[in-house]
Amino acid sequence: MSEKWWQEAIVYQVYPRSFQDSNGDGVGDLRGVIQRLDYIQSLGVSVIWLNPIFVSPQIDNGYDVSNYYAIDPLFGTIEDAEELIEKAHQYGLKVIFDFVLNHTSDQHPWFQEALKGPDNPYRDYYLWADGKTAGQLPNNWASFFGGTVWEKEPAGNQYYFHLFAKEMPDLNWNNPEVQLSMLDIATFWMDKGVDGFRLDAFIHMDKEAGYPDVPNIVDGQIVLAEEYYANLPKVNHYMKNFAQALRKQYPDVFLVGEAASANIDLAVNYSDPLNEACDAVITFRYFSEDDTKKDVRLPLTMQSGKLDLKAFKATMSEWQDRLGDFGGPTLYWNNHDMARAVSRFGDVIHYRDNSSKMLATLMYLQKGIPFILNGEEIGMKNLEIPTIDKFEAPEAKGFYEKALALGYSKEHILRELNATSKDASRGVMQWDDSVFAGFSTSPPWSGVNQEADYHVAAQEADEKSILNYYRKLLNYKQTPLFTKGSFKLIETNDQLYCYERTLGKQTALVCCNFTDQPVFFEDERFTEENFTVLLTNDFNSLEGKLGKLGPYGAAVLVFGTDEENEPHEENRISVF
Ligand code: GLC
Repeated sequence: MSEKWWQEAIVYQVYPRSFQDSNGDGVGDLRGVIQRLDYIQSLGVSVIWLNPIFVSPQIDNGYDVSNYYAIDPLFGTIEDAEELIEKAHQYGLKVIFDFVLNHTSDQHPWFQEALKGPDNPYRDYYLWADGKTAGQLPNNWASFFGGTVWEKEPAGNQYYFHLFAKEMPDLNWNNPEVQLSMLDIATFWMDKGVDGFRLDAFIHMDKEAGYPDVPNIVDGQIVLAEEYYANLPKVNHYMKNFAQALRKQYPDVFLVGEAASANIDLAVNYSDPLNEACDAVITFRYFSEDDTKKDVRLPLTMQSGKLDLKAFKATMSEWQDRLGDFGGPTLYWNNHDMARAVSRFGDVIHYRDNSSKMLATLMYLQKGIPFILNGEEIGMKNLEIPTIDKFEAPEAKGFYEKALALGYSKEHILRELNATSKDASRGVMQWDDSVFAGFSTSPPWSGVNQEADYHVAAQEADEKSILNYYRKLLNYKQTPLFTKGSFKLIETNDQLYCYERTLGKQTALVCCNFTDQPVFFEDERFTEENFTVLLTNDFNSLEGKLGKLGPYGAAVLVFGTDEENEPHEENRISVF
């Protein structure tokens, strides 16, 4: 396939609310991001993905857009956005925006018009249905944010469809006017210089015609109905039309689709260049947990669990094999919709540094495009949210009440929510040890973890910090061995995750220990002495053909040489 710039991209996700506040209102903003561009560049990333910044009532932190052509005053002005794009480009950084195309805010003028009645020209921008009989919902489908997907219009008798909050009505993509309107928005921002979009929730752009009930459900019960509103065949058709039209004008645009529930077959289809839809997708299917100890009466994803390393390995290597040739799968550990990885899969009490470094090594040296959530590079852990009313995630309250009714203690439920909720990952960036961690001069909107060693200033000064480890790692990630090399999972026990990347005569062995105990592994090549230790974290050692990885150890060894592929000498570490 032809080479595209994004195939070697490293994306840094900036959650603008939480990154840097420049005007002292406790909310991060675009001028804050501008101030921090040299920090972002110093990480060795090449793309900034900004979560939503368009005008919004902020029911769902900007994923409810009421004007796609302007910036929410909370974040700044359109001039700030233009300046950010221009300056980022000067720093050699590309910028992609979050583009919400499945739904709008109920305050969007299209929806306000649509509410005026069935004859309004904008009525057909949204999805409407009659109740089954007077007072009854059109069907039994549940919204992702709890309750039904249907909301009765205030003045008429119909119901409109909302997969997320009731303030976020879904668009009707079957309407050519909607398709054109969304294309116009994308073009507007491309004209302003953005380099692509993260397409929010695009897999829901089509719903089953006739809105049939999910069968065999007790009357009155509302249930999730993914088979009727996720990954339907027309999604691909809409996406492809949208992408083809945009690429006609902007052949270099990068389109990464959020495809939370897509399995590998769907992901291959969406990102196959011959299909011309997305360039890459972000699935939520990587992280299988051991669910056997969870309470089946409560949502499983809201109960903390251990990563099922065996299942994780099988999934990752399948995604590597089947998506590698398209530029690769997206590689990430966390984002604004899930708890932070080091809290979830590492050990923040005893081995925070080592487990942060191990997780990064494991994930990002695989084939594909890294997506790094701001703060991950300094080992930021979950935000500690003290009381239930401080959670913004709409699911949190429902979970709390249900778990309480089942007899769980308040403390237990809070602990579980803190461990699993998306709010946990949205804490503000920890820049230094000043008040509010250098994020703002006022109390931050989300609360703040203030910790001695886990801020940028401390880690800049420490050669062995997580931050400096990320820099080295991302530097290697950009070398041909790690962008182009083939991927092979190495069979090991379920404590280790090991793989090889090979290009020409050079092979990198990446070996990571997922436990808090030392683990040994054997390799004949260790005795040959013709290898380089490219990266290692703490507690690892090598004796003869036996390698020892300490708790959460990670090591990257390169065998063979290839002049062209060789990583830069100055970045080498020659001993364990
Ligand atoms: C996506 C976003 C999430 C948002 C939802 C609705 O999943 O990542 O934060 O709530 O879409 O737009």
